[in-house]
This record gives sequence, structure tokens and C-alpha cells, in this order.
Amino acid sequence: MLRAAVLLWLCSIGSQVAALEPVSTGVAVTTALASSFLLASYDTLKCQFYECCDAGWVKPNITGLALSLQRRLHGQHLVVNTVIRAIKGHVKSHNPEKALVLSFHGWTGGGKNFVSRIIAEHLYALGMDSKYVHLFVSTLHFPHESQIETYKDQLREWIKGNVTQCGRTMFIFDEMDKMPDGLIDTVKPYIDHYKEINGVDYRKSIFIFLSNTGGNDITKKTLEHWQSGLPREELALKDMEEVINIGAFNEKGGLWHSSLIEKNLISAFIPFLPLERRHVKLCVRDDLEAKGHPVTEELLSKVADELLYFPQENKLFSKSGCKRVSQKVDLLIEDEKDTFVFQPGTGGQIPDTG
Ligand SMILES: Nc1ncnc2c1ncn2[C@@H]1O[C@H](COP(=O)(O)OP(=O)(O)OP(=O)(O)O)[C@@H](O)[C@H]1O
Ligand SMILES: [Mg+2]
Repeated sequence: MLRAAVLLWLCSIGSQVAALEPVSTGVAVTTALASSFLLASYDTLKCQFYECCDAGWVKPNITGLALSLQRRLHGQHLVVNTVIRAIKGHVKSHNPEKALVLSFHGWTGGGKNFVSRIIAEHLYALGMDSKYVHLFVSTLHFPHESQIETYKDQLREWIKGNVTQCGRTMFIFDEMDKMPDGLIDTVKPYIDHYKEINGVDYRKSIFIFLSNTGGNDITKKTLEHWQSGLPREELALKDMEEVINIGAFNEKGGLWHSSLIEKNLISAFIPFLPLERRHVKLCVRDDLEAKGHPVTEELLSKVADELLYFPQENKLFSKSGCKRVSQKVDLLIEDEKDTFVFQPGTGGQIPDTG
């Protein structure tokens, strides 16, 4: 809008100059130079305040990403290392050979959305609110199997339109396991090794797929590892990669029989391990701290006790990972307020029971 106004203003100056004296080449050149200078200044000024696809707004901070994952993500050593390596390799290259495609798999509440958010926060100044980060949720955006052809067209348009605006665009596909079969194959051309498609280069974009696919097998493998007495941190990516690959290809939904797997277009399969009670307690600690509440061992255990654990024999893993921790902490804080009894000299208040 403002840009159009500047253009109009420049045209009016041009026509006034032309009206005063015969249009000489000199005047035309000066006007053209002034116009481009003003437009460039306008763009620079605009990008100071509004998000643009430039280094001021799209600014990968790999050190920050590594620190944040190491500090905030609990119990996911395979995720931390793989994500940092993959993102670093891709964003450091001015000419990546293809788009980066990460496929996150695992039990509920293990941190798949959490990690996507942390990645967005360290690639874009506005994080998940950036106009260059797009989240698709299968049950929301692709709910009807019968409309798959419409979704395919929309997906192509969305991807093309957004990458045309900014090469360094990130697409997150959540609930991949609930996506109509075959839909994801639509993205194949954009994540393949083509230098450009109809004048658009897609190789700087990042695709992240989230699903619970393979979650049962990952859990089984993690349990076996634990039963053999080995430390969790000794579980290696290669122990899990095949499990996920086979699971993702054969479990219904999302990547089921997908050509993305067949053609090796997925840069990395990333396993999220089921979280143990000790990890849940770390999530509780973080949440209490974030809410400015004192942390005590008693509180950590109290919240951790509120969640359910499996398998029946040893109750090793949290059924909901860290997913319901924040809600449980809120309830606990509320309960504390309600049971807080006035004692003379403590400065406390009698709770309003009305
Ligand atoms: N490994 C973790 N470390 C720290 N916090 C975590 C972890 N996993 C989950 N959380 C916390 O729990 C919340 C919910 O997790 P998240 O939504 O990322 O799980 P998910 O893996 O996407 O689950 P689902 O498969 O059900 O979608 C996160 O916002 C975060 O606060
Ligand atoms: Mg999720």
C-alpha cells in the first residue's frame, strides 16, 4: 500500500518535471535513479518494522538452538544430536542440494511439537509466528479422505506460493498418521534434488513431519534396552532407524507406502523415546520455574504421581509423556492457594471460599 503511494508520488514528480521543461534524458535518468533509491530506502525502512525474508528476520542461530535443545529437551539424546547436525548442515549451505526433510516419530508427549517450536524460534526472529513458518494439522486442514484431490491442489499452491515469497520457508505437517493416504506424495517434487521448478528453487526450504507412527516399536526397543541393564543414552540412532523406517512405510496413514520413503527423500528419521518418570519430574521443574513457583522435591513427586505409567510390571514410561504436566502444575498451584490457611504473623490471607 505504502509502496504504491511512494510510486504514485514519484510519478507525479516525474510528470511535473516533464511539464516544466522538455523531457531530457538527463531528467529521466535522474528521476529513475531517485525512484529506485527511494524505493530501496523504503524497502529497507519497511523491513526494520515488518517481517521480511532477509537476514534481519530469517537468522539461523545454531549455537542457540543447540543450547536450547540441550537445556530444555529431556530424555531425547537421539533427537538433540540429529536435529542440530541436520539443521546446521542445511542452513550453513548457500546451495543445499535438496530441501531438508525431518520425520519425527514417537510416543505421545515426547516433545515433537516442542522441538519444532524450538527450531522455529532459532531460525526465525518471530518463531512460530513468522509468516515463513507454516503448520498444517491433518485433522484440521485435511479432514476428509474424499477431498484428497482438492487438498493436493491446495498443498501445491501453498508450497509454491510460500517458497516463491521466501526460499527459507519451514513447513510443519502435524498428525501425519491421520493424513489421507497418498496426499504427502504431492510434496515429492519440492523435496527432490531439482535445482528449480518453473523458476522457483525449493532447496532451502525445511519440511518437518510429526507422527506417532513407529511409536510402539520405538517404545518396545527402548524397554528391551532398559531391561538389558544398559544406560538409555547408549541407545544409538541406527538401532532405531530401521524400526521407524519399516513402521512408517507399513503403518496406515501419512507416510504409508509413500514414495518419499521409497525414493529416500527423507533426510532423517528422528525417534522420540518414551519419557520416564525422572524426565517427567524435569518437565515439572521447568514448568514450576517458568511460573515463578518454588520447586521442591515433594512437589515434583506430587505432580509426577498424577500421571499414569506403563507397562504394568515396572511402570517405567509415562503414558502421556510430559504432555499434561503444565495443566497438572496449574491445578496444584490452584489447590495450594485454596488450602492456604491464614496464620497470624505470616502475612497470609484467608482464602475466599464464597
Ligand atoms: N522431552 C521433553 N522435554 C521437555 N519438555 C517436554 C518434552 N516432551 C514434551 N514436553 C513438554 O510437553 C509439552 C507437550 O509435548 P508435545 O506437544 O511436543 O508432544 P508431542 O510429541 O507432539 O505429542 P503428540 O504425539 O501427542 O502430539 C511440550 O510443550 C513441552 O512443554
Ligand atoms: Mg504433537
